[in-house]
Amino acid sequence: MKKYQAKVASNIAFIKYWGKESEALQWPANDSISMTLDALHTLTKVSQSEDSDHVFIFNGKETGRDSKQGGKAFRHLDFLKEKYAFKGALKIESENSFPTGCGIASSASGLAALTLASISAWTQSASFEELEQKGFTKELLSNLSRMGSGSAGRSIFGGYVKWNKSSCAEDQFINKEVEEDSWELCDSVVLFSSLEKAVGSTEAHRAAWTSPLFAPRLASLSDRMKLVTDGLNEKNMEKLGEAIEAEALEMHAVIMSATPSVHYFGRETGEFLADMRKARKEHGLPMYFTIDAGPNVHVIYPKSHKKEVRAWLASKINENNLLHDSVGRGAELKVTD
Ligand code: PMV
Repeated sequence: MKKYQAKVASNIAFIKYWGKESEALQWPANDSISMTLDALHTLTKVSQSEDSDHVFIFNGKETGRDSKQGGKAFRHLDFLKEKYAFKGALKIESENSFPTGCGIASSASGLAALTLASISAWTQSASFEELEQKGFTKELLSNLSRMGSGSAGRSIFGGYVKWNKSSCAEDQFINKEVEEDSWELCDSVVLFSSLEKAVGSTEAHRAAWTSPLFAPRLASLSDRMKLVTDGLNEKNMEKLGEAIEAEALEMHAVIMSATPSVHYFGRETGEFLADMRKARKEHGLPMYFTIDAGPNVHVIYPKSHKKEVRAWLASKINENNLLHDSVGRGAELKVTD
């Protein structure tokens, strides 16, 4: 039985997608830009099944329609099957390369890998070229992944990827903004908690509009987007780094000042940020932080300073709580017998 296999890495946003204009159409409130990672990935294998419904095996365990993880996957499979009138059920085996429940958002890599592998299986396509011949361009696959989880759309492409909201939901598009080979950045993830989020991102996206800081944020984001893209194009770590730190803190300020108010990170994370800023100043290390909707810190730095930054991190954090990665080349597809 042929297995259609998609390997998709996660991504870390430099300008965050936070808040939605339309939940049903997965239309974000703002443009976002991220770095696709390399090592932290989801591997999803899909084969056609004789069963009446899909079977979803996540990290070796069968996961049903009613579970949190399975629910999202099944809803997305139903959406794809109905949209393209695909026939038959699928057997899906999906694994994350990073420990589950370690606090790394796996929905970006997970939903993108599910989209790619299931469409490849339904259309019996062994490569991106074959998918394109059947009308499934990378742009379309990215848009379909976005319907599963917003940030998943950016993981299809490698390098530095922008999600353009455009002026209406139907016109939004995702594209590679800067090539991965143009500047190699690293991301070391510092894990502070493996606890499940008390408030999931869907609910928190909804609450964003209640924050008094949200409208001013939206009004000023295009200037910050310019700093980030200029920083990437000029390979200027200070320009990029200052912009991504301000961005992460602003997103968390919106989250904390929304109703309901949520605190995604606590004292340990705050102390680490202060230490990092101090070390940057004292030792001249070009490392800057960003934080998604959780307590864990992503430390971003150029590959040229990998040794020094990792040595500093090792002096502060137990190695079991560190995951090192760098910019990646985007989704991969293959077929096995
Ligand atoms: O894709 P979602 O709905 O889990 O939202 C992700 C939001 C952030 O990770 C916080 C930011 C982003 O742009 O990835």
